[in-house]
Amino acid sequence: MVSVLAQSHRPEAGNGNDSLGRPLRDLRISVTDRCNFRCVYCMPKEIFSRDFQFLERSELLTFEEIARLARVFVSLGVEKLRLTGGEPLVRRDLERLVALLAGIEGVREIAMTTNGSLLAAQAQALKEAGLGRVTVSLDSLDDDVFQAMNDVGFSVARVLEGIEAAAAVGLRPVKVNMVVKRGVNEGSVLPMARYFRGSGHILRFIEYMDVGTTNGWRLDEVVPAAELIRMIEREWPLEPVDPNYRGEVANRYRYRDGAGEIGVIASVTQPFCRDCTRARLSADGELYTCLFASHGHDLRGPLRAGATDEQIAARLRSIWSGRDDRYSELRSEATPQRAKVEMSHIGG
Ligand SMILES: C[S@@+](CC[C@H](N)C(=O)[O-])C[C@H]1O[C@@H](n2cnc3c(N)ncnc32)[C@H](O)[C@@H]1O
Ligand code: SF4
Repeated sequence: MVSVLAQSHRPEAGNGNDSLGRPLRDLRISVTDRCNFRCVYCMPKEIFSRDFQFLERSELLTFEEIARLARVFVSLGVEKLRLTGGEPLVRRDLERLVALLAGIEGVREIAMTTNGSLLAAQAQALKEAGLGRVTVSLDSLDDDVFQAMNDVGFSVARVLEGIEAAAAVGLRPVKVNMVVKRGVNEGSVLPMARYFRGSGHILRFIEYMDVGTTNGWRLDEVVPAAELIRMIEREWPLEPVDPNYRGEVANRYRYRDGAGEIGVIASVTQPFCRDCTRARLSADGELYTCLFASHGHDLRGPLRAGATDEQIAARLRSIWSGRDDRYSELRSEATPQRAKVEMSHIGG
């Protein structure tokens, strides 16, 4: 049986689109699989311990290799680049990569997702190198709750310093990502909304997702976006805002009293696979066509074996044209216990 999704996208297939008619527009680049946090929903301590085999330095793509691949992706239609990880700022001299990426003609935006812990010291250099915007993850304003979630005792105050430093150097508007896990930080939703109202920063609530296989995800730990919106609306009336562009992951709302905007990323309860234009490059040069993919496609091998840009472009075209991932839409039908890449390997 042909799915509704396949039918609705069929006319657009071809022309560099994937098999469900989705163009390639965004590239998320993971620059490291390491992180200085151990968020319970992403890199649980018991698994990502001292014994965990992180990538060796020689396995990581160099900045030059990343920039070369990015240039080929841009030639195929990518307009937005996002640096992520692991924690991108634990990779030394990241501003050098930003500068290389900023030199690629056709790039409309370079953004970064970070836990904010090292941002205050690096914001200025990143901005000068050409970074456009940052998204900072922060799950609570309460140190006890936040530390229970980052699991390394990191304080809220230092992340807030990172957010303010980023805004001060012009990496605006800062988006703040809060993953909401039932029974853990629901109580932080209203204080976070209150704190960021009127600040110029955009707070986004993310449904806890079943990425990877190590976080022990359960559906009853997801706080649905609709519930979050109801919770906030009871305090401060909201109205929906149109998406900025097709494929925007967050549903946007504005406070009716003019105190700014919030977003909800409802990847579990309202999946947005049909508009997904994102490819993900892991730090060791594998291309993933979905956050929930079980395997990647090796790009480092051909790159280091001397492939030309045309050959790499042909490989990317072939991978993308065969892409039919829509895991989140199928999840509700049956959540198979299948192998999935870890979030810290390919970034959010
Ligand atoms: C994997 S992190 C990488 C970048 C950086 N270390 C950070 O935390 O922002 C990217 C985003 O994914 C989110 N994330 C990680 N695991 C998640 C999960 N199981 N469900 C929902 N979001 C998750 C994080 O909160 C973060 O906003
Ligand atoms: S969410 Fe980000 S900060 Fe937290 S463990 Fe994962 S990579 Fe590190």
